[in-house]
Amino acid sequence: MVKYIINGAKPLQGTVCISGAKNAAVGILPATLLVKGTCRIENVPDISDVRLLLQILDEMGAVIRRLSPNTIEIDCSHVRDSVAPIELVRRIRASYYLIGAQLGRFGHAKVALPGGCNFGARPIDQHIKGFEAIGAMVELTGGYVVATAPADGLQGARVNLDVVSVGATMNIMIGAVLAHGTTIIENAAKEPHIVDLANFLNAMGAKISGAGTDLIRVRGVRALHGGSYAIIPDQIEAGTYMAAVAAVGGDVLVQNVIPKHMDCISAKLREMGVKITEYDEAIRVTRTARLRRANVKTMPYPGFPTDMQPQIAVCMSLARGTSIVTESIYDTRFRYCAELNRMGAAIQVDTKVAVIDGVEQLHGCDVKAFDLRAGAAMVIAGLAAQGTTVIEDVHFIERGYENMIEKLTAIGADIRRVEIPETAAVRTAG
Ligand code: EPU
Repeated sequence: MVKYIINGAKPLQGTVCISGAKNAAVGILPATLLVKGTCRIENVPDISDVRLLLQILDEMGAVIRRLSPNTIEIDCSHVRDSVAPIELVRRIRASYYLIGAQLGRFGHAKVALPGGCNFGARPIDQHIKGFEAIGAMVELTGGYVVATAPADGLQGARVNLDVVSVGATMNIMIGAVLAHGTTIIENAAKEPHIVDLANFLNAMGAKISGAGTDLIRVRGVRALHGGSYAIIPDQIEAGTYMAAVAAVGGDVLVQNVIPKHMDCISAKLREMGVKITEYDEAIRVTRTARLRRANVKTMPYPGFPTDMQPQIAVCMSLARGTSIVTESIYDTRFRYCAELNRMGAAIQVDTKVAVIDGVEQLHGCDVKAFDLRAGAAMVIAGLAAQGTTVIEDVHFIERGYENMIEKLTAIGADIRRVEIPETAAVRTAG
């Protein structure tokens, strides 16, 4: 069992460097299945979700070389049409991109229904709608998604998504890259990682235009070739460190970001009284006075991201006055509020709305990370709180944050990671 132990209430000071975007990497890595040749990918975050996907690709026959901690070469030329190991696939949401990738490469995919963070129903009907539109026959059988292309191959088509879905937009793009003719995705998601996936595929010879708008055109090509690509910085990791400085106080330069991607987060923090200074590839965050209250509603990009909702809620817990958070993407993404309340926050949740009465101080205690971003929020709360916070289930955090302990320690946090052998943990629990 791994825990984080934080001694809080120490202002943050210095520079933090942001890693490559998780949600771009987890789309790009499966998409390498479409490429016959070597893809050299830079700025790959070294996080457990990425390690899992690499393990899945390795088991499928990909040749993978790690050139440095964040640069990887992948050659999928000799990958076999096989079923990815269910015990790995079930551990990561993004394994759904294997459906588009295998369907595109082999005309056939059999992938276990994906796992991932649990915050309510996370259907994949829009992915399936897209695959069916381009001619695949899709069945859900025995916990697997089985997709089969017609004998004469997938055929480009128009797909209008019923809900704006990051996963469906990326998966349909992946599935359509090698199809005959043109696929048009309407009501597409516009997140930065969608543009990043399109740029990666185009660097390997695909013909995708419009990524970043709600209408994406994928003109099918016969084959993709190898090449080099660098993944964009992680918008949510950057936002998490910005929220940490806002909640804890201090002055930190957040480096290796695309400030434009941060607009909605920067604007909300400014509204709350945080000083934000933008540079070409960095943002300086300074917070000296107490935060002001604000309201926020999560929305698809360019709106305020649901993946920043728990972190901003910690800031609001410490702000003067009452703030309201409305979650419009997921059904149950407020489970962490009970943990924050145990630390002294005053949050009332009514299904998709949280009413947060700001308190002057949080107090350290033992809490759990319920999912990746809820875990990040617990870290921020622990950094801001008086006393010691112990966070359990931090494997969720390590799915998506590279070197969080080292990065926080470098800016003055007192945080350490402790591994407790299972037997000792069981004895303690007993
Ligand atoms: N939805 C459907 N049908 C579908 C797909 C989605 O109804 O076929 C609904 C979902 O239930 C949800 C909404 O549409 O209400 C948006 O879901 P989306 O498909 O955009 O989410 P996702 O692809 O499952 C990705 C990220 C999440 C992030 C969301 C929203 C990955 C692997 N995951 O999930 O990231 O919260 O987009 O931006 O890219 C995280 O990083 O912590 C994380 C959870």
